[in-house]
Amino acid sequence: MAEVLLSVDNISKNFGGLIAVDNISFNIRVGQIKAIIGPNGSGKTTLFNLISGHYQPSSGSIYFYGFNITKWPAWKSASVGISRTFQNLALFTNMSVIENVLMGVHLHTKAGFLSSIFRLPAFFKREKEAREIAIEKLSLLGISDIAEKKCGDLPFGLQRLVEMARALAAEPRLLLLDEPASGLDIHDRNRLCEIIRQIRDEGVTILMVEHDMNITMSLAEEVIVLDSGKKICEGTPKEIQRDPEVIRIYLGEG
Ligand SMILES: Nc1ncnc2c1ncn2[C@@H]1O[C@H](COP(=O)(O)OP(=O)(O)OP(=O)(O)O)[C@@H](O)[C@H]1O
Ligand SMILES: [Mg+2]
Repeated sequence: MAEVLLSVDNISKNFGGLIAVDNISFNIRVGQIKAIIGPNGSGKTTLFNLISGHYQPSSGSIYFYGFNITKWPAWKSASVGISRTFQNLALFTNMSVIENVLMGVHLHTKAGFLSSIFRLPAFFKREKEAREIAIEKLSLLGISDIAEKKCGDLPFGLQRLVEMARALAAEPRLLLLDEPASGLDIHDRNRLCEIIRQIRDEGVTILMVEHDMNITMSLAEEVIVLDSGKKICEGTPKEIQRDPEVIRIYLGEG
């Protein structure tokens, strides 16, 4: 079995009296596609925010390649290879597509401060490399033709892909996708599935939150089901589809 990439150990997050994430543990192995599902408000995005360092947990620990990253801020987690997209998108809408994707590259290949101030050759070399990486990621997602377009002018589905390109531009080990299919039509959803598989085949481990069951069940090797902040089930798509508790949540109690 592949080595463990990420280990989430008894993690909780409270907001005042609300327990958004309640004592959750799981592992992700290198090369996996794993999915998190659960009703609205069950804690999926909060769990992502804890893993990416956007929130600090109330208790519990997170390990990446065995290193304790529990208290790391988001930039530091990003710098060691944890990238994410946001459920509500976080693009700079006044900037072009390529400028947005370049932000992702710079997280990874920080152009030296002095070389950029003094406009040293190294700065231009890194800028050129950064652009190449950005274009490569846009091409992977099939959207290099919109590189110079202003992000805010694009339809939502394309903005989603731009955000994914930006996350990939940081050359992550672990990619967290928060509802990547939302806002996409059926054609784009099918393409998204191919893209996600391709990203995994290139060596990126993927954890995704996705409400589209067809996508989740066809892509994920393992699925975690959350309800009211708790992990109620974890297993293969087949296993979770048979789980009485999961059936109860999804078909309702009444
Ligand atoms: N920053 C915050 N401050 C206070 N409460 C929060 C905060 N973020 C999330 N919550 C609450 O935590 C709970 C879990 O929210 P979360 O966004 O993680 O759910 P989710 O499973 O991603 O839902 P959805 O499917 O709608 O995206 C909700 O009750 C939400 O209102
Ligand atoms: Mg969410």
